[in-house]
Amino acid sequence: MRIKTIGIMTSGGDAPGMNACVRAVTRAAIYEQWKVFGIYRGWEGLISGDIKELNTEDVSNIIQRGGTILKTARSEEFRSEEGRAKAAENLRKFNIDALVVIGGNGSLSGAEALAREQDVTVIGIPGTIDNDLYGTDSTIGYDTALNTIVECVDKIRDTATSHDRIFFVEVMGRDAGFLAQNSAIAAGAEAAIIPEDKTDIDQLATFIGRGIRKSKNSSIVIVSEKDGGAMHYAERVRTEYPEFGVRVSILGYLQRGGKPSAYDRILASRLGVASINALKEGQRNVMVGIKNDQIVYVPIARAAKLDKPIDKELINDLYVLSI
Ligand code: F6P
Repeated sequence: MRIKTIGIMTSGGDAPGMNACVRAVTRAAIYEQWKVFGIYRGWEGLISGDIKELNTEDVSNIIQRGGTILKTARSEEFRSEEGRAKAAENLRKFNIDALVVIGGNGSLSGAEALAREQDVTVIGIPGTIDNDLYGTDSTIGYDTALNTIVECVDKIRDTATSHDRIFFVEVMGRDAGFLAQNSAIAAGAEAAIIPEDKTDIDQLATFIGRGIRKSKNSSIVIVSEKDGGAMHYAERVRTEYPEFGVRVSILGYLQRGGKPSAYDRILASRLGVASINALKEGQRNVMVGIKNDQIVYVPIARAAKLDKPIDKELINDLYVLSI
């Protein structure tokens, strides 16, 4: 099918660089003389028909802005087949030949279901601070969030050192430990507690058992938000090791906002253009990703369903470096 019109939306949690990507998709499509419709508030807006045409000026002056000008939402209605049928009806009403979805795991799973049930052409673009999508080395927003965390931990370290305290710093990532593990390495933390390394070892006991306080008077542990997060570990230390001064800092939504880094802007721009190239080449229902700095196409069903493993060497590296 020759494409004449596309729809573009952001869905799920906002991530820095989504705007840069909306700009890139819009401009690359207009360059091909295609029409572009912006779909507002993710799947919610597609179901309710919150859809407006975008021109090149509509995406001016947004490359540097965090959040998403298209707004975003997590839609309950789209989880049902009826909801997805309504969404497909609106795509037909606006003569949209293909839908470009920028989002994380849940959003791309939704896109996959829509494509399968309604014979809609979708292209996924990985946009989430969690970096948890299979088939791509990085996701839009991850680098910026990582840098935000490192900046915060650098500040927390001042208090940790001045007061000789153990700080448990909780970071986002949902089921994935990429933000926790890599921010721990970048900020020089003593340990990271991540979901991928929780099988049979007690990470807290390991950390304390290494006698961290013998050589250092303060320490920073980065904890993934899953399973009770930082509070859980702080409580355990307070009861099991009352001799330590313990504090918790939950970074929360600070991690999702702010100007995208140069890396995220470039990634967003490349993936945005790549989504249009994929459609020109006749690709359907793939996610565009980046592997070893090359653009790749990954079947959207695989990207959404398969787990992205964390490199176990990173776990060892942190362990070695925290003596
Ligand atoms: O997926 C991005 C993310 O920020 C996760 O790290 C976090 O668990 C979740 O979104 C929070 O979602 P919400 O914005 O719905 O509270």
